[in-house]
Order: sequence, then C-alpha cells, then structure tokens
Amino acid sequence: ESAEIAEGEKVFRKCAACHTVGEDAKSRVGPHLNDLFGRTAGTVDGFKYSAAMVAAGEGGLAWDEQSLTQFLVKPREVVSGTKMAFAGLRKSVDVANVLAYLKTFDAD
Ligand code: HEM
Repeated sequence: ESAEIAEGEKVFRKCAACHTVGEDAKSRVGPHLNDLFGRTAGTVDGFKYSAAMVAAGEGGLAWDEQSLTQFLVKPREVVSGTKMAFAGLRKSVDVANVLAYLKTFDAD
C-alpha cells in the first residue's frame, strides 16, 4: 500500500507540470489537487476552469475513484471540451497508484 503511494508520487511527476498538492499547493496551470475526493468538478475557488468543466460539475460530476479513473485515462471522453491538455495515463496501474498518492492529501 505504501509502495503504491511511492509509485504514485513518481507518476504524479507527469501531473506536476500543471498541478500541485500539499501544504503550499496553489492552483497554477491546473487547480490544486488537495481534498480532491468528493470534490464537485470545477469548483476550486479562484481557478478559471473551462466552461465544459463547470458545466460537468453542475451536471453532477464529482470526483471519486471511478470518475477519476475514467478522467485520467481519457480526459476528453469524460469532460468533452476540457482544457486539461493531457493525453491520459495508459497503464491502469499508474492510475491506481497516482490515486493512492492523491488520497494522502485528503483531509479526511
Ligand atoms: C483539471 C488531475 C495532468 C491541466 C484536472 C482535474 C483533475 C486533474 C482531477 C479536475 C479538477 C477539478 O475539477 O477541480 C490530473 C492528474 C494529472 C493531470 C492526476 C496527471 C496524471 C495535467 C497536466 C496538465 C493539466 C499535465 C497541463 C498540461 C489541467 C487543467 C485543468 C485540469 C488546465 C482544468 C480543466 C478544465 O477546466 O477543463 N486535472 N491532471 N493536468 N488539469 Fe489536470
């Protein structure tokens, strides 16, 4: 389990060009990813999302294990029109590991 987290930290390097997590995390190119699980899509204060991401959240999209897995594999299939310029993770083990890592930045 902690091996997953360590591997996930390495996978997160692909995300870190645009996203931060942790104590001093700030939204940059992408929104910060603290407290991600349970977050309604498109709702970090002060971050300028695409209209598509805001609409997805208003339509009921919230981030959990399942929706994140789908989004990280094919972002544009989950949120058509997202401005997240990322091709997606190809290996499901990478997805599982990066989610294990991100979970460590969840408050509860
Ligand atoms: C949005 C995760 C890679 C740029 C998001 C969201 C998640 C996420 C969960 C939605 C957040 C929310 O609704 O508040 C990840 C992960 C990545 C990754 C885990 C690596 C595996 C990247 C990369 C970039 C990027 C490499 C920049 C090239 C963005 C942007 C948004 C976003 C701009 C906002 C999208 C929109 O408003 O349509 N990301 N991301 N992400 N991400 Fe990423």
